[in-house]
Amino acid sequence: MASRNIWKGVAAGAAVALIAGTAFAGLSTKDAGALEVTVYKSPACGCCSKWIDHLEANGFKVNAHDVADITQIKLEHEIPRGLHSCHTALIDGYVIEGHVPAEDVQRLLQERPDVVGLTVPGMRMGSPGMEGPTSEPYNVLTFDRDSNTTVFAKH
Ligand code: CU
Ligand code: CU
Repeated sequence: MASRNIWKGVAAGAAVALIAGTAFAGLSTKDAGALEVTVYKSPACGCCSKWIDHLEANGFKVNAHDVADITQIKLEHEIPRGLHSCHTALIDGYVIEGHVPAEDVQRLLQERPDVVGLTVPGMRMGSPGMEGPTSEPYNVLTFDRDSNTTVFAKH
């Protein structure tokens, strides 16, 4: 009888450890949930998929949507015309336009400036998802609804 009670105690302890472990796992899942990104892209865009790979490699959870008319998405999110790129992403209240490096998205979410989001206008060679034989310097810009921009990062 005594030995059975000991085993019950061990089992109970294991159960507590299991619950604690689950609680921690739940916490980290919630943290990862904060880095959930929705990406709108054209189905034909190869560099968009590569940018998504870059985000996933940096711990983001990506929900990708292929859309026939990506310009419509940019209009809906009021991205100033001169700041457009290929894909448009939404994360935690911000808009991410184009090949913005994951580290800059992470910094944006930490600093939380009062802007609409970040953009790398156009398609800059050497930016994440646009790797190739050549690379060119590019800036990551913040932008607001009135097309005001500031340089957020230089690469
Ligand atoms: Cu692209
Ligand atoms: Cu793209």
